[in-house]
Amino acid sequence: MIQIQEVTKKYQDKKVYVTALKHVSFSIQKGEVVGLLGENGAGKTTLLRTIATLINPTEGNVVVDGFDTVKHPNEIKKQVGVLFGGETGLYDRLTARENLEYFATLYGLSKHETKVRIDDLAKMFGMKDYLDRKVGGFSKGMRQKVAIARTLIHNPDIILFDEPTTGLDITSSNVFRQLVHQLKREGKTIIFSSHIMEEVSMLCNTVAMMHKGELVYHGNLEDLYQSEGSRDLNYIFMSKLVRGNEHYAS
Ligand SMILES: Nc1ncnc2c1ncn2[C@@H]1O[C@H](COP(=O)(O)OP(=O)(O)O)[C@@H](O)[C@H]1O
Ligand SMILES: [Mg+2]
Repeated sequence: MIQIQEVTKKYQDKKVYVTALKHVSFSIQKGEVVGLLGENGAGKTTLLRTIATLINPTEGNVVVDGFDTVKHPNEIKKQVGVLFGGETGLYDRLTARENLEYFATLYGLSKHETKVRIDDLAKMFGMKDYLDRKVGGFSKGMRQKVAIARTLIHNPDIILFDEPTTGLDITSSNVFRQLVHQLKREGKTIIFSSHIMEEVSMLCNTVAMMHKGELVYHGNLEDLYQSEGSRDLNYIFMSKLVRGNEHYAS
C-alpha cells in the first residue's frame, strides 16, 4: 500500500518558490492500476518522483508498504520500478540482453537470477528474436519493450510510468497497453501519468486528477462515471476544472 499524506512540494527556482504539490493525500492499494491525470505542470512527475524516493516532500509523508520514502529509501527502491517518459536509458551499442544484464547488476541480482529473469521477460514481451541484437537498430516499439523490461528487471511490486506513451506511435502505445494488462493480471500495483483520457479509461480502476498541484478527484473510475452520469473522461475532467474554477484559479 502507498500512503500519500498531506504532501506539499516546493521547488526553489533562484529566489522564487514554485509549489508543485499542495497538501496531496490519497492511498493506493496493492494491485490497483491508477491513472494520474493532469495538464502540463499539474505536478504528476513531481508526485511520481516523490513516491520513487528520488525527491523528498517539503511537507508531509509518503509511506510505501510501511516504509517512509525519506527515512528508508533503499527499502522502497527494491520494490519499485520506474520509467520516466521518453527516456529509455538504454545503451545503443549493447544488445537488449546486455542492457538488461547491466541493470540487473545495479540491483544486485545474481548471474543465475538475471538469466532466469531475462528469459521470463523476453517470453512475456515477445522479445526472444531480438534479445541478442544491438538496441541501436531497434524500432521505437522494440525499444519500448526493452525499456519496460529494464524497469521490471528486479521484479518490483510497484511500477511507476511517467507519460509512457507520449511521443510514441500507435503500435508502440499498444505495446504499452498490452503490457499493463499483463502486469495487472500478475497483481502488480501500477501508477502511470497521462494526458490521454482514453488510455486511462481503458487501463485503470482508479483515477487521480491533478490541477496546479492539487488533487481534484481521487477514486474509482466506475464510481466517477456513475456520479457524473457520463463515461466521457475528457468531459468529466474539464467540467471538474470548470466547476472548481474559482477555487483552482488562484
Ligand atoms: N526542478 C524544478 N525546479 C523548479 N520548478 C520545477 C521543477 N520541477 C518541476 N517544477 C515545477 O513544478 C510544477 C509541477 O511540475 P511537474 O511535476 O513536472 O508537472 P507535470 O508532470 O504534471 O507536468 C510546474 O510548475 C513545474 O514548472
Ligand atoms: Mg511530467
